[in-house]
Formats: sequence, structure tokens, C-alpha cells
Amino acid sequence: MKAFIHESGKLKIGDMKEPVASAGEVVVALRTAGLNRRDIYIPTRRGEEAEALTLGSDGAGVIDSIGEGVTEFEVGEEVIINPALRWYTNSDAPPAGFDILGMPDNGTFAEKIVISAGQIEKKPAHLSWEEAAVLSLAGLTGYRALFTKGGLKADETVFIPGAGSGVATYLIQFAKNIGARVIVTSRSEEKRKLALQLGADIALDTNSDWNKELVGETIDLVIESVGRATFNRSLGVLKKGGRIVVFGATTDDTVDLDLRAFFYGQYQLFGSTLGSREELRDMIAHVEKYETHPIVDRVFNLDDAAEAFVYIEESKQFGKVVLRVTE
Ligand SMILES: NC(=O)c1ccc[n+]([C@@H]2O[C@H](COP(=O)([O-])OP(=O)(O)OC[C@H]3O[C@@H](n4cnc5c(N)ncnc54)[C@H](OP(=O)(O)O)[C@@H]3O)[C@@H](O)[C@H]2O)c1
Repeated sequence: MKAFIHESGKLKIGDMKEPVASAGEVVVALRTAGLNRRDIYIPTRRGEEAEALTLGSDGAGVIDSIGEGVTEFEVGEEVIINPALRWYTNSDAPPAGFDILGMPDNGTFAEKIVISAGQIEKKPAHLSWEEAAVLSLAGLTGYRALFTKGGLKADETVFIPGAGSGVATYLIQFAKNIGARVIVTSRSEEKRKLALQLGADIALDTNSDWNKELVGETIDLVIESVGRATFNRSLGVLKKGGRIVVFGATTDDTVDLDLRAFFYGQYQLFGSTLGSREELRDMIAHVEKYETHPIVDRVFNLDDAAEAFVYIEESKQFGKVVLRVTE
């Protein structure tokens, strides 16, 4: 079957063996798959590894076959993939055995995938195939960061640098769904406009003087994923005693932190990553309740996946990028 793979240091369309469902597993015929920044880091992490790996964490499709003992799903059902492997119940951090689909296990950029029946959920009926493909990873990450770790409430203000990011487009919508005030930043004027259309109350230029722009505002919560380029400036707009949640570091993993300013400010710093299956189901219920639609920026054919990787690398997107696997 056709797949977008990494093999011997190269990204290419390749031919992978058709998967077969063992006991407790299902084979899903993928209609669409979703790209995440993680996918573009994998070639560097695998280096010259000779064994072919199908990339991709997110996807949506139809159940093609079912292994022994699977009773909760039927052939032909429309489903989405949960890429947070083996993290079923809520916990402060992922359990031992947790991994993200798409390395080391073969992922979703293929015509078919075999996966444990515990890792799929029914596709929300109000979503298109393109929207369904990009819900799990970014939606779940945003939901846990905003609500479980960040504890955002309706009467609070959240600050989100990098409004164009896939996760940020969920953060904006989830926060507005509960009635919170949302302030974002982006380097792009076009993306600032789109963020305002999505519901953000204020959209600042990432390169402006935020403290000057935010006179009169109280930031209760910051959700950071840009990393070194913005982390200290984000901390600088947070109210004393406020919360900051970090789930990514697009620009660099290391930052200089003024510990004295940090402890005098009594800030609360939380790390977050993806989320449990319980949180995924809560997120799906939230999306259904508020009829939230993921923001799909562009759709590429699976054959053009390499082009989609460059598009993400250059941060051109506002929202999510989709690969169309089959019509
Ligand atoms: N821990 C987890 O479970 C988890 C899950 C998902 C994502 N992540 C991580 O979280 C980060 C965001 O993910 P994503 O998929 O939402 O990202 P994305 O769609 O690739 O977007 C990244 C955004 O960062 C901003 N940015 C990039 N370079 C910048 C710079 N030099 N200065 C200021 N802003 C810059 C851009 O915003 P503008 O273009 O608007 O300026 C860009 O849209 C990534 O690092 C990803 O690996 C982690």
C-alpha cells in the first residue's frame, strides 16, 4: 500500500505491507491524515535509520477489518485516531508505556493503519473528513493545556503567543467557547486578522512592545509553545501569581530564567503534553457541544506530503494542514 515514509535518511512515497488486525486491533482505511510539527522533527531524530517508518500521528477513516475480541466497533464505522498511545485515564503525567503514534509505531500517512481498538473514537458527525483528521493531537494538547493544567475560567484572560499555530487555533476557540477573554500575538498581519475573526479579543504583533500594548489588561494565564523567542516576554505580561503552561518550544528548548523575578512574582509554571483518552473524550464532547470546527488551512494530496512538510517548516499556516489519502 502507498505510504509517506522515512527510510535511510530520506522522506518519500513508498510501498508498505498491508496491515492485518490481530486480537484487539482494527485496520482503518484512512481518508485523511493531519500534519503536526512533530512530523517534521522525525527525520532529524531518526537520522540514517534504514528501516522504513510511516510517519503521521493524526488521521480519520473507515474501519476496514476487525481483529478477534473487538466488540465496540464494526466494519464500515467512521472513526478518528487517538495518537496518545496507552494513556487511558486522567493522570498528572503520562503513564509508563506512553508514546505518540508515528514513531516508533507506523503512523497515519498511509492508505491503511492497524491500531488497538482502544486508540480509536467515533468521528464527530459535524466534522468533515479534513476537519476530523486534525482534531486529535492538537485539540487534545490544547484542551489539557488550557483546562486541566491551566484551569482557565470564564472570567479570566488568557494570553497566547503564535496565533497561527495549529494548537493555538483550538486554544482560541475553546477559551471563547467558555466565555474567557483571549489575547494573542502573531508575526503576520494576515494571521492577526484571522485570529480576530476566530474570536480573539485582541491580536498583537509578536514583535511589538506587549507591556505597552497591554496597559489595563490582567493576564491570568499564558499558554506558551513558541519557546525561547517569546517565553520571557510572555512571563513579563503575566500577572503576579499567574499561571503559565508550556507544551512546546518551536524556536528553542532552552531559555534563561531570572529566578529572583520568578519567585518574587510567585508565578506558577506547568508542563503539559498531549492528554489522556478521558481528556480526549471530554474534548470531543466540548467540540460537539459548541459545534467547534477545526481550522483547516490547506489540504495536500498524500503524494505531495513533502511539499506540506516545507509549508509547516516555514510556518505559513494558520491552523492545520491536512493530507488527503483517498477520495
Ligand atoms: N507536547 C505536546 O504534546 C505537543 C503537542 C502539539 C504541539 N507541540 C509543540 O507545540 C508547538 C506548537 O505546535 P503547533 O503544531 O501548533 O505549531 P505550528 O502550527 O507549527 O505553529 C508554530 C507557530 O509558532 C510561531 N513561531 C514560529 N517561529 C516563531 C518565531 N521565531 N517567533 C515567534 N513566533 C514563532 C508561529 O506563529 P505566527 O506565525 O502566528 O507568528 C507559528 O505559527 C510546536 O513546537 C510543537 O512541536 C507539542
